[in-house]
Parts: sequence; C-alpha cells; structure tokens
Amino acid sequence: MNAIQPEAAQPQAIYLKDYQAPAFWVDQVKLDVALDDHQTRVISTLSLRRNDQREAGLPLVLNGQGLTLKRIELAGQPLAETDYQYQEDLLTVARVPDQFTLVTEVEIDPANNTALEGLYKSNTMFCTQCEAEGFRRITFFPDRPDVLTRFTTRIEADQQRFPILLSNGNPIERGELDNGRHFVTWEDPFPKPCYLFALVGGNLQAVKDTFTTMSGREVALEIWVEPENLHKCDHAMRSLKASMRWDEQTYGREYDLDIFMIVAVNDFNMGAMENKGLNIFNSACVLAEPKSETDAAFQRVEGVVGHEYFHNWSGNRVTCRDWFQLSLKEGFTVYRDQSFSADMNSAPVKRIEDVAMLRTAQFAEDAGPTAHPVRPDHYIEINNFYTLTIYEKGAEVVRMMAELLGRERFRQATDLYFERHDGEAATVEDFVACMAEVSELDFSQFMRWYHQAGTPKIEASGHFDADARTYQLTLRQHTPATPGQADKLPLHIPVRMGLVGPNGHDLPLELNGEQLGTETVLHLREAEQTFTFHNIAAEPVPSLLRGFSAPVKLAFDYSREQLAFLMAHDSDGFNRWDAGQRLAVLALQHLVNQIQANEPLQLDPALIEATRTLLNGEMTDKAVLAEMLRLPSEAYLAEQYEQVDVDAIHKARSFARKALADALYDDFLRLYKVNQRVGDYAPEANQIAERSLKNTCLGYLMAREDEATIALTQEQFNCADNMTDQRAALTLLAHAEDPRLGAEPLRRFGESWAHDPLVMDQWFSLQVTRPQADALDRLKMLMAHPAFSLKNPNRVRALIGAFVGQNRVNFHRQDGQGYQLLADVVIELNRLNPQIAARLVIPLTRWKRMTSERQDMMKAQLERIRQESLSPDLFEIIEKALA
Ligand code: ARG
Ligand code: ZN
Repeated sequence: MNAIQPEAAQPQAIYLKDYQAPAFWVDQVKLDVALDDHQTRVISTLSLRRNDQREAGLPLVLNGQGLTLKRIELAGQPLAETDYQYQEDLLTVARVPDQFTLVTEVEIDPANNTALEGLYKSNTMFCTQCEAEGFRRITFFPDRPDVLTRFTTRIEADQQRFPILLSNGNPIERGELDNGRHFVTWEDPFPKPCYLFALVGGNLQAVKDTFTTMSGREVALEIWVEPENLHKCDHAMRSLKASMRWDEQTYGREYDLDIFMIVAVNDFNMGAMENKGLNIFNSACVLAEPKSETDAAFQRVEGVVGHEYFHNWSGNRVTCRDWFQLSLKEGFTVYRDQSFSADMNSAPVKRIEDVAMLRTAQFAEDAGPTAHPVRPDHYIEINNFYTLTIYEKGAEVVRMMAELLGRERFRQATDLYFERHDGEAATVEDFVACMAEVSELDFSQFMRWYHQAGTPKIEASGHFDADARTYQLTLRQHTPATPGQADKLPLHIPVRMGLVGPNGHDLPLELNGEQLGTETVLHLREAEQTFTFHNIAAEPVPSLLRGFSAPVKLAFDYSREQLAFLMAHDSDGFNRWDAGQRLAVLALQHLVNQIQANEPLQLDPALIEATRTLLNGEMTDKAVLAEMLRLPSEAYLAEQYEQVDVDAIHKARSFARKALADALYDDFLRLYKVNQRVGDYAPEANQIAERSLKNTCLGYLMAREDEATIALTQEQFNCADNMTDQRAALTLLAHAEDPRLGAEPLRRFGESWAHDPLVMDQWFSLQVTRPQADALDRLKMLMAHPAFSLKNPNRVRALIGAFVGQNRVNFHRQDGQGYQLLADVVIELNRLNPQIAARLVIPLTRWKRMTSERQDMMKAQLERIRQESLSPDLFEIIEKALA
C-alpha cells in the first residue's frame, strides 16, 4: 500500500537565493554540560545581540532538535509559556530586546542517539559530531555557519568512568565534585560557528608530543584513544607534525592555539571532523600500525590528518557563510591535502589515484540522478551534499585556478584570501575574487564550473597538412544535461598539451606567431575552437590534457599504435599512464564485443606487447609502474558505456588478466621475486612502491591459479610481517575460483584478529568482494557474525558497502537478490542512521544505465523503500532516483 504522506510532512527544499543574514548575533555562549548516558543536562547561556543590518523587531528563532526543554529565562526572568514556542525544531521568542541574555536548560539522551549526530555514545565514551547541523541536537542555538561565537564549555561527569573531559580551546579550570563527579572548563578564544564545537568524555589515554611553530611558539600535541589503541598512534603524530610544517612552508599558515588534540572514535559517520583544536576522527582514519594496517591505511591516515589540520585555516579561521558554500572549504582543503600527500609520497601516483577515483566515482555521480553543481543552489538535507562533487570536483576547480595563476600568484591569492577574510564567513565569490584580483584574469566564465553540474566532454580532432607544415587541433566541448539543468553554456577549460614528434620528443609549439616552448595550456572557451600550430614538419601525436588539467572526458580517435607510442614517449607521466589506460580500454571493449557476440575471446596482442615492454623496460619509478600494470577497474569500464553489461565487463577483465599472465608468466614472476624486500618493514614511499608492484604481479600470476603460484601466495600469507603483504595474499586466496583455497586462511585470520575491529573490517570486505556467485550467501552469513553491527558505520561500509560498491557482478545478480538485500538494509538503517542509509542506497539509484530487466528490479526496490516513513536524507535521494 502506498502510504500517502500529508503535504506538510514532506521535507522542504532550502534555496541559496533565499539567504538572509542572521537576525541575531551570539557574542558569547557558556555551556554547562552534565554528562549522563540517558539524561545529559545542557545549560546554555547565550549573549545575544540584534543584527542592525536586518529589519527591526524580528523575533528570536533558534534551532533545536529532539530537546526536552526544562527551563528558559530571558534577562534573568523565567519566560511564561505564552512568550515562546517550541515547534518543528524551532524555538521562537516573539518579543525580545536588542541585547539580552537567554538561558535554556535541556535534557538529551546520548545513549539512544544512533544517528551519530550531536552528542552520542561510542562504546564507553561520549563524543560529538556537529557538522553540518548537529549542534541543534545539543542545545538551542542559531545553528548556521555565519554566526561566530566565543565558547566556554564546562563539562561535568563521573570521574571513574570519564576521567578525560575535552572541548575546544584551552582548559582553564578543573575540580572534583560530590558523588564521585568532576568537571573541566574549556575556553576557546577564537569565535567559531557552532558546527566546529566538540566535546569528548571517556576513559582515554594519549600519545603526546610538541611542535614549535615558525614564530617559535610551542604547541602541545595530543592524540587521545582507548587504551588498547595506544600503540597505533605514532603514524598519525608524525603526519600531524608534517602537516603543521607543510602548511607553514607552503601556505605560510601557522597554528594558533597552545594545544591541538585528536580523538579516535569507533562509531563515526564520516572520516573525520576539524573541530577547532579538537579534531575527532573515525578510528579507521587515525590508527595505523604495520602488523594490522596496510600501506593504503597509512597513506589514508596521513591524508586525513593533513586534511583536518589544514581546515584550521581553510574552514575554521575562514569559514563558510552558508552550506551552499561547502566546497569553499572542502574543495580547497582537499586540494591542499592532495598537494601535501603528493609532496610526502610519489607525486605522479597520487595524481593517478585521485584522477582514477574522480573519473569513476565522481563522473558517475555527475551523470546520475543526484548530480549537482560544485555549488548547489538548493538542497533538502545538507548531509546529502558531502559528496565527491563537492570534495573532489571542487578540488579540481581549485587546481585549475592554481594552474591558471601559477605557483607564486596562487600563493599571493591565498594569502590575500586568508588575510582579508580571517574571522569571517565567506563565499565562493570571495575566494575567486582574490584569484582575479591578484592575477588580473577574468574569472566570470570560469565561475560556471561552480554553477553547472555534469562532466564536460571534449571531442578533439587533428589535421596535419604536410604542404603547409601545419597541425590543426580542433576542440569541441559539450556538457550533457543533468537533472534540473537542461542547457549548459561553454566552460573555460584549460587544456595542457604538447605535440609529440616521430622521434618521441615534444615539438616546439608555434601558435599565432608566438613561440610557446614545447608545452602549453590552451584556453578553450567556445563551444568549438581550432588551434593551428605552424612549422610542423612531420605528423605529430597530440598529447592532450596533460596532468589531467581539467575534470573532463577527452575523446580523441587514437590508433593503438599511437597509444603505445605515447605510453613509451610522452614527456608527461600522467599521460603515459593514461595512454596505457586508453589502450587497455580499447582491448577490453573489444573483448566485451566478442562476449556479447558469443565469439571466441582473444586479447589484443598490442596490449600484451605494451605490457611486456613495461615489465622489461627501464622504468625506475616502481610506484608508477605498478599503476601502469593495473587494468582499468570494472567501474571505470562501465563509465565508457551508455548501457552497461556488468557480466561481460567482468568476464572481459578476468579473461584479460589471465591472458596477460599466461603470455608474460616469467616476467611477472621475475618482477615479483626482485621486489621481495629484505629488511624491516617501513611505510615509506620506496617500500610502498615495491610492495605495490610485487603484489600487482602476484595478482596476475594468481589469475592462473596454478600450483606454483598458489604455493607462493600461501607462503606470502604465512610469512608476511606486515598487513599489506598478508592481506594481498589473503585476498587472492579468498577470491580464488577454488573456494577451498581461502577457507583455512580466512578462518585463521578471523580468529587471530577477532579483537581488532579495524582488521575485522578488512576481513569482512575481502570476503564479500569475492567475484564468485557465492558472495551473497557469504554476505548474509557474515551479517550474523558477532563482530558485525548495523549500528556501526565502519562495519556497514566494510560489509554491505564493499559488496554493493566493489562487487558489481554480485550486486547486479540477475535474480535481483543483491538489490533486495540492499533495500532491506537501507530500510533498517533509515530508522537507525539516516546519513548512512542515504549514502548506502546510491548504487541502487543508478538504474538508468542498466539493462531493462535490471532497471525494473532496481526501481521496484526503490519503490519499496519509498513506502517507508523516510528521513529527509533518504527522502531526497529516493525522490531524485525515481523522478
Ligand atoms: N568537515 C568534515 C571533513 O571533511 C566532514 C564532516 C561531514 N559531516 C557530515 N555530516 N556529513 O573533514
Ligand atoms: Zn573537510
């Protein structure tokens, strides 16, 4: 039955165009929080002042969600029930003076807060998550980022259970109370929006260190964790100090408080949160130790620690005027953390990884029902907008501006931005205005990158005229329609390029009588533009979009020979990799055609030869070599089709892997052996590169599942002294055609790591990403495992997220059972944790590109979810999916 909701119950959209400055400022807030599992009491004292920019006599309206109001006093006088109203998450006081104090006392129930927004319990500790709109679940407040306030926070709790009580800023007072309770008072000297508020209470221990800033101030650094995790903090501490130094050297930004704290919590919706002076992290993004975490985890920790630290300037000192500006802080900060990781590790590999992710996951988002601009103009639930588009595409847009300005002027522009808007809530326009001012470039057309959704496509074609000695390059751009945006305007697209001559060297570029050296950036502004290069003696191969200079799809009709040529000779490392990917895509698409036509399969010999050249070549950068050996993912291949045949793509890719292994067995084996380390494990760039290369080779070899390779893999599993090698081997065994190969190692691994939830997450993931048809049954079995819980987001992501996101053939099973299982889980999570539910459902919303039987089954599950009483989060996504 279709339960028809009354019109008013439907969540309403909020529009950027309706923005108005706040009616009241909060000069100061004093919080008094008495922690209790079910009856936490919060007394807040707000010093309010009317905003004289707004019309006179406006009522006071504060946000408050799920609060039990116990007391309310204005200027020291209790308010009569007729003087205020608490309805639909708003507290309204109609008549208030221009300046006054408001005291409210509320009660909340953290132990029953499964949404993990506001104040909640994670195991035995209390913690908070306020971004975007969680603070309203703690107390009444103007919960919007443009109200900046000085916070003083007194926390009181049972001393035995919660010896450690933390909040933002500096501790100014502490003491013992009756009944075994104690308190600590924290004061944050920097005015901040309430989304940056944080509070923690628990039985925690810290790893401590210090950092001396560039002006010589000493900052105390503390990483607080549950005692069993103390040995997993060293890498995060190293990363924190490296981040602090890097931001000084690269952006001239110094830390501003005397203490910087990180807390690890097990139950967390996202990766981490940049609360002023008190970052709160998902334990998966801060804990790392060689025996239990992989190289990838080490790099994730470094990146996320950097990201949150960098927010202290790009986010905290300069914050956002409203949530439509989210990419102002997130896009910029991702760009900053990407540059940091590039400087700390292999820069080309970092770029390859970031682009690979953007081109699969973000492009898919931009082409689906939830597509939105980097700066959206409306939303129903802001939590749905912490997306790859806001974060990753937003970072690409900042990267393009950095490219357009060049290193020095970009730095001048960011200096200007930080100085001009320090202590303010800014907009995307403010940021771009600094870029324009410093560079004197015109960014008006460029602003369309913020307004238009969808991935632009550039069709490039070249014409060589031997007599005229010219090469004409024509670029045509087009951005496809996205929901709510039918017509798109041409964007300003920087296309970095070169022309590679027959001898493999870049040719000198002469354009409009100007000598441009051997590489240049073309500015594509029109729907179609032709660039004519002069004095070109022989037909070149164009190398376009070097370094992935813009987040677009670039099509050029390269021959396989040209791609192999670019793979070997392009002076741009990124484009060498990309040429290899293009060659592999052609070969895999050819196999897909053969599969669909029921023809015998044969892998393109050009791909085999190109791979042979790689394996036997002189490539010294092992990290890049490993990337170049990797075939494009099934998700990326799917992106190449309007109608996706998941089974054929999977079959084609598996066939290609095995064919490469058969043809190049000796080479893979030799490279595997050469890269077996002697000496101690360290998570540093050279070793990471070797392990990556070695395990890539082992992966190919195991595609054959021959006796010798099985023995090699088993030996690696048994003897590894680090999780990277052990997990790589375990994954290969668990994904083997023969289910017996994985059984025993999985059992042993599961038993020996039962005490460590982060390792159990890996154990869950690698079982449900098994491509064989029994994966769904295993998933169901594992959902009943004692270590699994729907209430923990990491467990949900490790098990269900991994299955629907990384096991395409099984999620899209032809009997529809994958869809049904996801819908079941989403319906349950809708009640427990709306944010996680709305994220998890996304793969189901992408039904348009599947074959028609699958479309029907997917839509049927979406309809089934729609029957429920939905949170705004899920309501918004489901409506878009079925629109
Ligand atoms: N600002 C945090 C970060 O990117 C993410 C917070 C996400 N919160 C949310 N409710 N979606 O570092
Ligand atoms: Zn962020």
